Amino acid sequence: ALPKAVLISLTETDPAKIGTLRKEGDDGGKAVRVKVQGRVQRVAKQKGIMFVWLRRGMSTMQCLLTGDLAKTYDALVLVRETSLEIVGELWETPAGAHAPLSRELHADYFRVIAAAPGGDDAFATRVPSDFDHSTSQASEALLNLRHLTLRHEKPSAVMYVKSVVERAFHNAYHELGVTKVSPPALVQTQVEGGSTLFGLDYYGQKAYLTQSSQLYLETMLPSLGDVYCIEKSFRAEKSLTRRHLSEYTHVEAELDYISFDDLLAHLEDLICRVVDLTLADPVAAKAIKEYNPDFKPPARPFMRMRYADAIEWLRERGIKNEEGNDHVFGDDIAEAAERLMTDEINQTIMLTHFPAHIKAFYMQRAADDDRVTESVDILMPGVGEIVGGSMRIWDYDELLAAYKREGLDPAPYYWYTDQRKYGGSPHGGFGLGLERFLAWMMKLWTVREACLYPRYMGRCTP
Ligand code: 4AD
Repeated sequence: ALPKAVLISLTETDPAKIGTLRKEGDDGGKAVRVKVQGRVQRVAKQKGIMFVWLRRGMSTMQCLLTGDLAKTYDALVLVRETSLEIVGELWETPAGAHAPLSRELHADYFRVIAAAPGGDDAFATRVPSDFDHSTSQASEALLNLRHLTLRHEKPSAVMYVKSVVERAFHNAYHELGVTKVSPPALVQTQVEGGSTLFGLDYYGQKAYLTQSSQLYLETMLPSLGDVYCIEKSFRAEKSLTRRHLSEYTHVEAELDYISFDDLLAHLEDLICRVVDLTLADPVAAKAIKEYNPDFKPPARPFMRMRYADAIEWLRERGIKNEEGNDHVFGDDIAEAAERLMTDEINQTIMLTHFPAHIKAFYMQRAADDDRVTESVDILMPGVGEIVGGSMRIWDYDELLAAYKREGLDPAPYYWYTDQRKYGGSPHGGFGLGLERFLAWMMKLWTVREACLYPRYMGRCTP
């Protein structure tokens, strides 16, 4: 009788659990009989030997079925995604062969836990792995099968890196002593303009899904000091672009008693720290290297460019605005023009001092030029804007005037206005779209690839 097998993970390396790897010519005296569980990633047959790549989460193990085991019915019909238990001893991979952790499991027994279908319904037939999001048809078909396409290598790697990046933000803020809070998603005020609000009936009252937690973060400065959150934000975007979602992950922070320069310095430090912390995770670093081989941490200091100079830059190159005319001061810099600029300059750009009338109501005016605000967008090559931030109006009367100018009823904002009544302070903050950050780090065609189950105009399934 064979010894009882020990259940191990696919990445277990502790000799107390796995014994010593066997190799040709040894007597197997120091080997341990191990048991692994997972789904079949790939099967290949070679001279009566069946190679089975078993996957569990992001880990894989190469397993070999030989002799009678390879001739069993279960082995003959084995297909991708079948869930299996395999038992045997771990061997060193022969010289010249490659396998995860340079080892392979030589099975003496295996058992099907749950079979996956073959034929027309086989995973490999139904769920092609080529992931070309650049054609909308392919992209829609793949997203209808998102629950299955997520099992492919690239999408799972992107989701893994997303988790590492999110943790990096938490760690970076922990290092800085900034406290995390969790503002509500159901709100009755707008932040970034009425045109992208998702409204809903809230027990007979009008309510919205939040566009940004900023206003709530501002209310926390007097009680907790600097704060941040990582929450979902919602935008009823009515266009289909490579970087707009209806639901996205928003990293937002608010910092008290700062200047605009402090805000810019903070953003530069934060982004660089998050990149470093992400690359310190070997699995994330490997995935970034694989899908974006040219990725380099952003060079410091970030280039700073005023909005007015960006308008000049666009004019000099004959890049037109959305109406097809030369850009003039006061124009919104649309996505296409912004991409052209970021791709040509090809480095991180902090675009600052946007005119007040193209930005949100709460932004503080610049002391040296009343037409513009102390605002910043951070632009990254390949994506464009990943951050929007600003200093906030902190004078009571100025805020009331801003509501009026924007045609906002101040009544539902009473709690926001009160911050200016009970001890105001110069303060500012920003919002960063996590999916856009990922699209930049991993060179994704669209932010949809950076979502577990993307939501954008027309899609709310699966
Ligand atoms: O520039 P936005 O609209 O700024 C705000 O919401 C501020 N209230 C944030 C703050 O200061 N606390 O959005 C900030 C960032 C953008 O730079 C972009 O990265 C992301 O949020 N974003 C989107 N990402 C995906 N899909 C959308 N529809 C997005 N809208 C904004």
